[in-house]
Amino acid sequence: MNNYSELIKLAIAAKEFSYSPYSKFRVGAAILAEDGRMFSGCNIENASYGATNCAERTAIFKGVSQGVKIIKAIAITSDEEDFIYPCGICRQVLREFGKDIDIILINAKEETKQSTIAELLPNEFTKTSLK
Ligand code: THU
Repeated sequence: MNNYSELIKLAIAAKEFSYSPYSKFRVGAAILAEDGRMFSGCNIENASYGATNCAERTAIFKGVSQGVKIIKAIAITSDEEDFIYPCGICRQVLREFGKDIDIILINAKEETKQSTIAELLPNEFTKTSLK
């Protein structure tokens, strides 16, 4: 199993920047790209609630807008005792950028649990579905 300690640290640090005045639910995430680069992000809420962006997508979009094509792993954390899983939209967006993505969940005690995008998004709709 990969050692994702640096990615985990980045996700935890990103949570500090969470802009969540409405839900007060802080989330931090960090992606590891195939080329070794890492990008972190937090959730960014909006007075028009639907305009909110999840931490996962903030990190993904930061990476993709800097040339990332393939994502190998994502670490996700919140202040909850339970592990929080990425929402459906983030699962779909993640799958766009990789088939073999490790998903590292981190709870408030900094315990970790690992999953994969294949586990979290079965029977996926991807670009091959469009052919
Ligand atoms: N949120 C995330 O950032 N990631 C998730 O996987 C689930 C939810 C955010 C969105 C919103 O700012 C707050 O958590 C409550 O839904």
